[in-house]
Amino acid sequence: MDVLTLLKNDHKTVGTLLDRAKRCDPGDGRLTDLADEIESALTVHAAIEEKYFYPTLRDRAEESDEAVDVFEAYTEHELIKKLIALLKSGRQPDEQFKAEVQVLAENVTHHVKEEESTIFELARQMLDAEELEELGTQMQAAKSRLMRSPRTSSSKKRPSRRKTAR
Ligand SMILES: [Fe+2]
Repeated sequence: MDVLTLLKNDHKTVGTLLDRAKRCDPGDGRLTDLADEIESALTVHAAIEEKYFYPTLRDRAEESDEAVDVFEAYTEHELIKKLIALLKSGRQPDEQFKAEVQVLAENVTHHVKEEESTIFELARQMLDAEELEELGTQMQAAKSRLMRSPRTSSSKKRPSRRKTAR
């Protein structure tokens, strides 16, 4: 699968989860599980982009505004990670939690929009079809590895959340 299709599919998955979370009322226990799922999906997604996709584009950027676009994507990831960290703190799914989910959703929507326009456009300019395919294969393999690892698997995180939720 080429890298752009892989990332677009990931964006769709996260978008669906965020939409479901946005429809939950504060206090709805499903918000906690959805936040866990969103966290694992975004963590894996950001990790493979930062390990394979962005460095390739950064290395090939010839003009400074191209490099700025790539660094902007990195910076947006940092912001998204900070928002995810808030949701990971094992709190009750109250009004504040819901608000944080909404702000995360707004930031992810913005990031996805810029990525699928500016960043994908850079990738199409800088990489040929074979390279896009190769990068996609590499990133799919890395994604499978990360999804199997306990560090990014949400099912392993739930017990610690329960312990701290009070
Ligand atoms: Fe991204």
